[in-house]
Amino acid sequence: MENPAYNIISNPGKPEGTKTGNNSGKKLFLESYGCQMNFSDSEIVASILSDAGFTATGNVHESDVALLNTCSIRDHAEQRVRHRLDEFQSVKKRKPHLVIGILGCMAERLKTKLLEEEKIVDIIAGPDSYRQLPLLLKQVESGRKAINTILSAEETYADITPVRINGNGVTAFISIMRGCDNMCSFCVVPFTRGRERSRNPETIVEEAKSLFDTGYREVTLLGQNVDSYLWHPLLGTKKEIIKEKANADAEDKADTVGFPDLLGLVATINPLLRVRFSTSYPKDISDEVINVMMKHENICRHIHLPVQSGSDDVLMRMNRGYTRDWYLDRVKKIRSVIPGCAISTDIITGFCGETEDDQIMTLSLMDEVRFDFAYMFKYSERPGTPAAKKYKDDVPDEIKTKRLQEVIALQQKLSLESNRRAVGKIHKVLVEGKSKRSDKHLFGRNTQNAVVVFPEGTCKPGDYVNVIADGCTAATLTGKVIG
Ligand code: 5AD
Ligand code: SF4
Repeated sequence: MENPAYNIISNPGKPEGTKTGNNSGKKLFLESYGCQMNFSDSEIVASILSDAGFTATGNVHESDVALLNTCSIRDHAEQRVRHRLDEFQSVKKRKPHLVIGILGCMAERLKTKLLEEEKIVDIIAGPDSYRQLPLLLKQVESGRKAINTILSAEETYADITPVRINGNGVTAFISIMRGCDNMCSFCVVPFTRGRERSRNPETIVEEAKSLFDTGYREVTLLGQNVDSYLWHPLLGTKKEIIKEKANADAEDKADTVGFPDLLGLVATINPLLRVRFSTSYPKDISDEVINVMMKHENICRHIHLPVQSGSDDVLMRMNRGYTRDWYLDRVKKIRSVIPGCAISTDIITGFCGETEDDQIMTLSLMDEVRFDFAYMFKYSERPGTPAAKKYKDDVPDEIKTKRLQEVIALQQKLSLESNRRAVGKIHKVLVEGKSKRSDKHLFGRNTQNAVVVFPEGTCKPGDYVNVIADGCTAATLTGKVIG
């Protein structure tokens, strides 16, 4: 989802007027592509550059610095950025002093290639180098191109208070870890975002508290694989060392904070603060996580659990580390402990070697689980990934498309059925803002993450309201506020 402009909505914990640096009066245009983690990173970039004196603008034509925070997950995502760079080229023709920078996964993946290919790029900054942005900008001022794509084993930006971008003042993302150690064979993320590391839980809780105090009512804890969050005050970021020491020493064990502990800590800040998290990983989601969700009503009844494929052969080639039966067992466990918990997923069609039988297995798994929601993609080979090295991208594009269409059609039916089951029931909805379709209607989400639209009445964003659902589409519930 593209984020064409940004406004500073609030910056909890940071007093007004603390700008430093010699950039006052300079304007920053920042646009983000890709996953929620990228949008969350852009809030860190905005904070760093706001401290360096920049003010935000939503108009690239009036900016002094234009940055694109990019995504490499599929080729299509990279093509969109290249297209945007072409547009920037024409702006630069009229405004030669405009500084153009590429941040994020594409910067990390392509490194200096971007300087060679895209002559107009002045700055290339990978996901772990955002603290250096003021310095990199200085370097450009002195007439040189600036590049930093060094990945870090420690950087978590724990001390940086994000500037909330395009926010609604009600819901916010909190990054709890960075990188990924999973090595799913199709995925470029371990190469662009580096090793997994967890952020100090105290800073996470502080950020959540401060958001709550400034009126926010929902936080989503973000990581590529939140179930492997692990932190110890003295043992650094290496999961293996923490696990080993915690097994051997009761004191170390007591000091270790895992994801279930972190969820509990954030959930106890205030019962009015909703807690969501993303993304869970099927091989790692533990019974403790499921149990802690049950203990706290304000941890939302929704788990995003990407399955990718319903075929064991494909899952093996994807190096996902679980089987179809394992996945189904996790779903059974979730539903037995938390009745009514929504489950959403990601699915890839046309991965290397995928047959019609594999596709049938994916469709049958979808039917069996009855996913409430899904993100669905055609496989896109990423250079340098284990799949690109080991397997042939041998499913023709039209077959990938046909299979994707089958998956989308089935999910459309399942999402509609899921919403139909919710009609006639009362939902506790956190109001987020005006409905896109009508300014006489508001929208919010229920605990299962379904969007609910209802007439405005007297409520406002940030309120909790009870809504009786009286209609639905596959994407939305409609209803009326009661009580
Ligand atoms: N091709 C298609 N989809 C991909 N994803 C990750 N890598 C690829 C790729 N090479 C999808 C997965 C993942 C989601 C974030 O993006 O489904 O869960
Ligand atoms: Fe990529 Fe797998 Fe890590 Fe997700 S868990 S970011 S799909 S390697």
